[in-house]
Amino acid sequence: MSNAIDALLQENRSFPPSEEFRRNANASSDAVYNIPDREAFWASWAEQLDWKTKWSKVLEWEPPYAKWFVGGTLNASANCLDRHLATRGDKQAIIWEGEPGDVRTFTYRELHAEVSKFSSVLKSLGVQLGDRVAIYMPLVPEAIVAMLACARIGAAHSVVFGGFSSEALRDRIQDAEAKVLITSTAGYRRGNLVPLKKLADAAVADCPSIAHVIVVMRRAASDEMDDTLTMEPNRDCWYHELMRTASADCEPAWVDSEQVLYTLYTSGTTGKPKGIVHTTGGYLTECYATCKWVFDLKENDVYWCTADIGWVTGHSYVVYGPLAAGATVFVYEGAPDWPKQDRFWSLIEKHKITILYTAPTAIRAFMKWGHELPQGHDLSSLRLLGSVGEPINPEAWMWYHKWIGAERCPIVDTWWQTETGSILITPLPGVVATKPGSATRAFPGVDAKILDERGNEVKVGGGYLAITSPWPSMLRGIWHDPERYVSQYWSKWPGIYFTGDGAKRDADGYFWLLGRVDDVMNVAGHRIGTMEVESALVDHTSVAEAAVVGINHDIKGTAIAAFVIVKSSRLQEAKKDPAKFEKELKDHVTEKIGAIARPEKILVTADLPKTRSGKIMRRLLRDIAEGRALGDVTTLADPTVVASLKDKYEEES
Ligand code: WTA
Repeated sequence: MSNAIDALLQENRSFPPSEEFRRNANASSDAVYNIPDREAFWASWAEQLDWKTKWSKVLEWEPPYAKWFVGGTLNASANCLDRHLATRGDKQAIIWEGEPGDVRTFTYRELHAEVSKFSSVLKSLGVQLGDRVAIYMPLVPEAIVAMLACARIGAAHSVVFGGFSSEALRDRIQDAEAKVLITSTAGYRRGNLVPLKKLADAAVADCPSIAHVIVVMRRAASDEMDDTLTMEPNRDCWYHELMRTASADCEPAWVDSEQVLYTLYTSGTTGKPKGIVHTTGGYLTECYATCKWVFDLKENDVYWCTADIGWVTGHSYVVYGPLAAGATVFVYEGAPDWPKQDRFWSLIEKHKITILYTAPTAIRAFMKWGHELPQGHDLSSLRLLGSVGEPINPEAWMWYHKWIGAERCPIVDTWWQTETGSILITPLPGVVATKPGSATRAFPGVDAKILDERGNEVKVGGGYLAITSPWPSMLRGIWHDPERYVSQYWSKWPGIYFTGDGAKRDADGYFWLLGRVDDVMNVAGHRIGTMEVESALVDHTSVAEAAVVGINHDIKGTAIAAFVIVKSSRLQEAKKDPAKFEKELKDHVTEKIGAIARPEKILVTADLPKTRSGKIMRRLLRDIAEGRALGDVTTLADPTVVASLKDKYEEES
């Protein structure tokens, strides 16, 4: 049988942790991978949280349904706030900076008071245990307060990214039957105000389940915009007015370990959004454990995860994990290129950030903008870097290592999904020697394998990434859609979780993610993942970003079409002789990974179609390359990108 996916690219560079980093790391020896009893391992992490009543059984597994810490009761907000008051009451929990530069900070005591008051508000509006609350907010502190307040009273939040349309919000509210919506007058994005309340009004008009809309006044919002806002009597209330009289005394609801903490809709790069369900005890345990060991959180760290709370990364690694670990979390509302393309670096310098966790899409944009920008800032506070969301191409990794990490900071390339709840494959920065482009090893206690079509393990080579034992933060289902839960994740091999990702393992047992299985290109009988060809292109000194897709070809069946973004500093040169440049890129791929992967066609573009969380939508590139009408474009960040790309492609064909 042919391989599920072929492994082509060779990458031999390796970066062991420095002795100093290892010595001080929370996980500092390979012995942490020696887990004789997986359930006991996870229970030891759960014991580090506060429980009202202890569990009677660690795991109940009736595939595909898992229950963790059965019979235990706890509260997620109490674990993120109350339990720190005695030792960290005056420590900064959140340092927030708005896009216009306004700064607000909350100590753990202040955040606890704010969350308690808002919990009282929600209760007074009739929100009860098990109810759903929708949150449609810019990345302001009140968004985090709202999430934790829901958790405090046992209501499930459903955060909808503030960049989504009112239709997207409407669909998600309807699916979850949310009782209350929390929104804001507006949010900032690249200097513009996004009128969230107006968009929310349009959505709520078709949402009979919503009894109340709570509106946060974005402090710096312009008067002009607020004048045109309407507040619907009996339905809409101002956050600040409700808070004025709310009681700061709100005992957390001690919920079952399996109480739903939240639902979060994910469409990935294809298909109708699914409401992924996460529960409390197991989820919090694994978010906490990974924060301690992967981000190596220490008392003095200033930790910045750049994700929006609209994504799972914002849930697990802006809110629940780091706050459960008592960290100081830095939060920035706006865009990386506002007012200039060095905003991230100036924030790191200003707030003395020590840990930065961001996405390859951002790193490739920084590469395109040039290393002179970070070079102009003092980034010496940084000690650890992270990446998540897509495979990171080795050259992007090297750029991050050199220009941001000063060849000093370990990089944790963390693989996980909305569905997995927390990081499953990652280096531990004080233990594992990293290799550019590899997510390295499964987190201790996680059973990740590469399987072939029939479910046999591939020890070295390519195949499907699967998780073969349950883990605490795994999804518990898809909201209102048990059939899809089974068919999407559990039907390829019985009792085994199918990730939908292709991956390979090298002779050292390291994992290399190769892209979504749906995007694999079958060229003359070879199954080639998108990651390796894109990485070969990004390896060329002129290329900042690349996306490849399979297109129909008379002889090969499928050929490769590549869309590439050229670094700003190299654009003139590339434009001078396009045919020569195209040949140079094709030759480069041939040289790096072989003639089999040589692209048939190369199109230089200024932009690529991406989801709002920054993932390349190759499905739309295939539509363009094959001259089809464009498929569903509703999850696109910027619909104009595909239209102009389509014109350009057709012009050059
Ligand atoms: C991809 C984000 C390679 C992968 C936390 C996965 C990655 C999907 C990595 C989940 C990584 C995420 N290396 N690929 N380090 N991290 N992915 O649900 O395809 O937004 O299945 O969760 O992103 O995306 P999601």
